[in-house]
Amino acid sequence: MAERITREDALTREGFKHACHIMLYGDSSAKLFGKIPIKHIVLMQMRFDGLLGFPGGFVNPSKETLEAGLSRELHEEVGVAVLVGVDDHISSCLSQSPSSPRLITHFYIKKMSEPELKEIERAAVTTATDHGLEVMGMVRVPLYFLKNGGGLPYFLSHSFICNSRAQLLSALHHCRLLSQGELEKAVRQAEQMRH
Ligand code: GTP
Ligand code: MN
Ligand code: MN
Ligand code: MN
Ligand code: MN
Ligand code: MN
Repeated sequence: MAERITREDALTREGFKHACHIMLYGDSSAKLFGKIPIKHIVLMQMRFDGLLGFPGGFVNPSKETLEAGLSRELHEEVGVAVLVGVDDHISSCLSQSPSSPRLITHFYIKKMSEPELKEIERAAVTTATDHGLEVMGMVRVPLYFLKNGGGLPYFLSHSFICNSRAQLLSALHHCRLLSQGELEKAVRQAEQMRH
């Protein structure tokens, strides 16, 4: 488990790199197959390395604020410089992953309207400079349950960068997009299908 620290504490640490990522999400009235409510749009991305993660990236706090840096990364990766504020900050963690030591990961959540999210999905393909390079495409997280683990359990069985899978689960809980019981069920079913 990554160790949680405050945003203020994070900014006083020396010798650490900082990365800021964000979950952009919103409500939707769309129905899959005309009957299964999508309920919410939650955006992640397929990265260049084949791992799933959130949009965002490295920020240098001596040159820009965390939030301005995240906005810059969003402009590169989704083609829209989504404004991010300190109020959107959710957590900062000392990364414990061996592949990225001395990294502090900052996580943000921002709620948007369905048309705004659709515009981001469009811009991610048409104007984002990283499209097809560092970002292979935006993906929506399926939040529903189909038979045989379809939906969220299968999604969770994929491979994720750093602690982005834990960030997704805690964000779904934080925003009450799924109940604790539904989240536990999804994690349990995903565990059974991991190879
Ligand atoms: P470059 O432009 O190539 O430097 O990439 P970037 O600035 O977009 O950085 P990236 O998004 O890859 O994030 C920087 C580091 O943060 C990665 O090396 C990962 O260790 C970590 N990371 C990437 N995505 C996520 C994420 O969604 N959540 C968390 N917690 N960490 C992430
Ligand atoms: Mn079809
Ligand atoms: Mn980037
Ligand atoms: Mn990135
Ligand atoms: Mn970058
Ligand atoms: Mn880059």
